[in-house]
Amino acid sequence: MKYTAKAPANIALIKYWGKSNESLRLPTNTSISINLSGVFTITSVDFNSALTSDEVLLNEKTAPEKDRQRIIEFLDLVRCQAHINTHAKVVSSNNFPAGTGMASSASGFAALALAASKSAGLNLSEKYLSILARVGSGSACRSIPDGFVEWKAGRTNSSSYAHSLFPSDYWNISIVTAIINKEIKKISSSEGHQLVNTSPLFKARLQYLPKHIKDIKHALSERNYSQVGSLTEAECLNMHAIMLTSKPSLIYWLPDTLELMHSIINWRSEGLETYFTIDAGPNVHILCQNSNVPKLIRKLKNLSNVKQVIVSCPSPGATLI
Ligand code: DP6
Repeated sequence: MKYTAKAPANIALIKYWGKSNESLRLPTNTSISINLSGVFTITSVDFNSALTSDEVLLNEKTAPEKDRQRIIEFLDLVRCQAHINTHAKVVSSNNFPAGTGMASSASGFAALALAASKSAGLNLSEKYLSILARVGSGSACRSIPDGFVEWKAGRTNSSSYAHSLFPSDYWNISIVTAIINKEIKKISSSEGHQLVNTSPLFKARLQYLPKHIKDIKHALSERNYSQVGSLTEAECLNMHAIMLTSKPSLIYWLPDTLELMHSIINWRSEGLETYFTIDAGPNVHILCQNSNVPKLIRKLKNLSNVKQVIVSCPSPGATLI
């Protein structure tokens, strides 16, 4: 039977960067994120005995070979769990540019996990759906639960999954995504993760994280906007310090990214209290109080290097539609 699922992208306040197990995608550290209402993937999956091979359409086109292979490996995993051997038709589309550090793999594999498991006849709990999505792409496990989400690192397949810290209606804040480049990045995040141990700073990051995670969870529990914002920005810079000092170094920022980071710091000193965070790409996610969103959008529209602006609020996780 055909099932269709919608899953949000998520933005990490505490980043997942580095794996302790490559094939299971077990992370070296716990991470925390917010699901984004404005950035999502819709995927339908139909395991159908009439099909003679798997068919994968991404954004209305035949999927590039590398993406197709990764999706077929994931379908194999679902087939194995469901004890079936039928082929599937997968049709998926994003409402944002994929492969630009906008977590297309997160929303993509979360939607795929839900639609494929249902179509294969599995009825997975949130925990096991999160585990399944994680094997597709680590950050995808955080797009399964509602709202503000924690992915406990865990040391085994069954102990590494995400759960909701707070529901999406817990705190009405905005995340404004400024897209400054829509080109596909040269080094994928999967490749980037493999370089963490080449950074002389990685050990120090692992030591700093536990207290930082405790602090941000505390700030979230108090809805302390300034604390959440400044800890998020510091954490983004900490992860990028690993990227910058890896061998070979990963410089995901473009000149326009850096210009926007400086603008945000300047606007903050002028009273527009916003904070940036950036994943493995050039685009910038900006934490903003709702009352300041119109002002922030006006500022962003005045910058010629900002190509598109997407406003999100915290969103529920993956759902069937
Ligand atoms: C920088 O989840 O894309 O966005 O598990 O190899 O698919 P794979 O990696 P992925 O890594 C995301 C890294 C990040 C930080 C984050 O979202 O936590």
